[in-house]
Amino acid sequence: MVKICCIGAGYVGGPTMAVIALKCPKIVVTVVDISTQRINGWNSDHLPIYEPGLDEVVKQCRGKNLFFSTEVEKHVFEADIVFVSVNTPTKTHGLGAGKAADLTYWESAARMIADVSKSDKIVVEKSTVPVKTAEAIERILTHNNKGINFTILSNPEFLAEGTAIEDLFHPDRVLIGGRETPEGQKAIQTLKQVYANWVPEQKILCTNLWSAELSKLAANAFLAQRISSVNAMSALCEATGADVSQVAHSVGTDSRIGPKFLNGSVGFGGSCFQKDILNLVYICECNGLPEVAAYWKQVIKVNDYQKTRFVNRVVSSMFNTVSNKKIAILGFAFKKDTGDTRETPAIDVCKGLLGDKAKLSIYDPQVTEDQITKDLSMRKFDKDHPAHLQPPSPTSIKQVSVVWDAYEAVKDAHGVCILTEWDEFKKLDYQKVYDSMQKPAFIFDGRNIVDVKKAREIGFIVYSIGKPLDPWLRDMPAVVA
Ligand code: NAI
Repeated sequence: MVKICCIGAGYVGGPTMAVIALKCPKIVVTVVDISTQRINGWNSDHLPIYEPGLDEVVKQCRGKNLFFSTEVEKHVFEADIVFVSVNTPTKTHGLGAGKAADLTYWESAARMIADVSKSDKIVVEKSTVPVKTAEAIERILTHNNKGINFTILSNPEFLAEGTAIEDLFHPDRVLIGGRETPEGQKAIQTLKQVYANWVPEQKILCTNLWSAELSKLAANAFLAQRISSVNAMSALCEATGADVSQVAHSVGTDSRIGPKFLNGSVGFGGSCFQKDILNLVYICECNGLPEVAAYWKQVIKVNDYQKTRFVNRVVSSMFNTVSNKKIAILGFAFKKDTGDTRETPAIDVCKGLLGDKAKLSIYDPQVTEDQITKDLSMRKFDKDHPAHLQPPSPTSIKQVSVVWDAYEAVKDAHGVCILTEWDEFKKLDYQKVYDSMQKPAFIFDGRNIVDVKKAREIGFIVYSIGKPLDPWLRDMPAVVA
């Protein structure tokens, strides 16, 4: 019986291994982590991450062929295939700080694998890593030369948070990269057989190691680039009277372009896009390709511009000041159906409004007060590191309150900022919202989910990203940052 061990029980390790266990009943899968808190969560009724459909999958396999444990070394020792799915955040200090991937967690996992192993193993890079990482990992694995064969594969994960289970059940593709040696090819076949239990063979792509590593960075860069492209258009739409939804629809019906990932918004977030593009930029710079680096860097610059633009729009619309005005923030997670706040645009928007001394009342159905307080008091990139490895929660920020109901958040507010596209925000009784707010009542829709026409009929002044401007907003001079 094949034994799999996965190091790292996070947003990727947990769901991915749960699905492998479900689809491969003959394989024993153990997910290990240094965090007792995380492992206890996986062994409880309250899983440490929120993901639609995950509970059911875990319940079906846990205790049968799916286990969660802090006995990292024991399970690595016993495994035939070791996945490494630890975090690879952006470096916060030293060479490449603010750009390069921090491989500390990866390196320590690799050293531990080398130290405890007594039999041959396939080691699979599941984390997103810089291209050529496998070479460094191979050196670490073989450093104490015990005569054990480690074959390294790159198997980057393409799941999206919020739809992880669906993505894992029906992936667009599974990518496996390996050395072009007989051992490398044999290892590819072994991993391919695991996925072949539920993924059609033509969707399992096999490449060399470097192509697989780089494909993951490239895919995230392309996806983020689409968002920045449509957001750049959204600014032009507002300036000209065009409607970004109409433009995106017209552009997206071209089959060469396609309709997905073309929604104008306050910007992209999540733990991956910014981190992986910064990493790509750094790799380009290190390889003497400054023009290529500058091209991809611009994707992040436009994303930052979009968040600043949103804050400026809020302030300028409300008579150039939000000082001591209550602003309701609806949504804090970086997208709907997740509680993940890593790199969420809400952090930058809230910090921008707090900079102008606004009073914020924040509501998100899946994010706790503790997490929001941490996020708003943390330095850039620190929040990329796992919650349990972060410093203890600081005392709450005076101008911020976190509430557990959207109607509570909007009560007596001057403005509402919608920063996450949760379905429940589409279904709010906007007449009730309007009635409980100060007048004039503003909606700043960072996700284009509000019916602008209906909201204006109720009496709101509405700003919706990339949509023709409300006459009120046209007359307000833009604030220069
Ligand atoms: P995460 O931060 O949720 O989980 C990583 C886990 O690894 C943490 O629980 C941490 O305690 C554990 N860990 C760190 N060092 C360890 C060690 N030496 N031994 C045992 N456990 C250790 O990270 P997440 O989001 O699961 O990401 C993991 C990797 O997958 C990253 O490289 C990320 O870029 C990539 N990825 C993430 C996606 C996402 O949507 N979150 C999607 C695709 C790839």
